[in-house]
Amino acid sequence: MKKMFTDCRLVSMDTDVSHSEGYQVRDNQMIAVENGRIVAIGENLSTDGYDKVSVENRLITPGFIDAHTHIIFAGDRSGEFEQRLQGVPYEQIAKNGGGILSSVKATREASMEELVSLALPRAKALMRDGVTTIEVKSGYGLTVEHELKMLKAAKTLEQDIDVNISTTLLGAHALPPEFKDNSDGYISLVCEEMIPAAAELKLADAVDVFCEGIGFSPAQMAKVFDAARTHGLEVKGHTEQLTDLGGSALAAEMGALSVDHIEYLNEEGVKTLAENGTVATLLPGAFYFLRETQKPPIEWLRQHKVPMAIATDFNPGTSPFASLTLMMNMASTLFGLTPKENLYGVTRHAAQALGLRAKGQIAAGFDADFAVWDLTSPAQLSYQIGLAPLYARYLKGVEAND
Ligand code: NIG
Ligand code: FE
Repeated sequence: MKKMFTDCRLVSMDTDVSHSEGYQVRDNQMIAVENGRIVAIGENLSTDGYDKVSVENRLITPGFIDAHTHIIFAGDRSGEFEQRLQGVPYEQIAKNGGGILSSVKATREASMEELVSLALPRAKALMRDGVTTIEVKSGYGLTVEHELKMLKAAKTLEQDIDVNISTTLLGAHALPPEFKDNSDGYISLVCEEMIPAAAELKLADAVDVFCEGIGFSPAQMAKVFDAARTHGLEVKGHTEQLTDLGGSALAAEMGALSVDHIEYLNEEGVKTLAENGTVATLLPGAFYFLRETQKPPIEWLRQHKVPMAIATDFNPGTSPFASLTLMMNMASTLFGLTPKENLYGVTRHAAQALGLRAKGQIAAGFDADFAVWDLTSPAQLSYQIGLAPLYARYLKGVEAND
């Protein structure tokens, strides 16, 4: 397949975020695609032998990448939202057996097929917002059987709809009731059974841990990461979301692709991310929905040149928001990120957070995953919400359906 995209108002994201002030919007560009890969970009490429697709001077960006979601789950947590509004804290709800564990109960009761049909509208909502790749975590099964069922549901989504899925095993998300008072016993199950099974069946690209007072300790996280590495899987962490346990620095030292949330991360920790090339994934939806007041350390992240990704963290407890552009808007209004930083956060840096070397940029050698927008300037992506400005998506050069 040889395709030439013409009349592009191109935002390629092919330079480092600190490279220049602007976005380098380039008009009248052509993008040559062969077998799903970009082979050339320029103003006057020869179109001989190519099928031409004019995007009619619309803005074209890399397809958006949502690098942190929990879109596979059953059940409803709106009652918990009401409880929180009456003053019960998120951590207290979790300690009372609600929170994550209430989603675990409903998810265990659901079949793989039911989980897929519940996740479909969530994935489609993300896609309508320009998303071409979604990272999907398990973590509401907490047994080998149910964690694998969640990962299979995620993989099935990729077959059923036009989106790339990257899967992450989050067995260490919460302590299941069967292991009450035996946290280390559960971590052994994750390391000795869950990770080997997910790796063997090729159901997971990475392994994640909720490192927190209401989750697992840094030492337990290290054990899980060691097991993941032994089985050839990437690692990443939910760290410093509610307290500072030093999880982000430890994860970075162990080669984590990203550390996510990081509201309570200190400057030493930020330096450790920089030294290890770990991405800081910001989740403003969870910050907003939990009415958190401690902001992630944006100035230190900038100073130490840590790449920042932005993701929805779509989940039933802390971030029921299926819109990545809304997250971009929140990253600006709540954390002070610039619209340019936001765009890096959902393209190039999000690809880095998932270890996807061929995605997140429009440049020769990269996958032809594009979002085409009825917009004139990239700042508009972070600015007006709910107007559905997406014109089309392309996956490996082929127009994708919603
Ligand atoms: O990313 N922090 C842990 N996990 C999710 C919340 C999961 C839930 O409450 O169901 C998060 O915020
Ligand atoms: Fe999360």
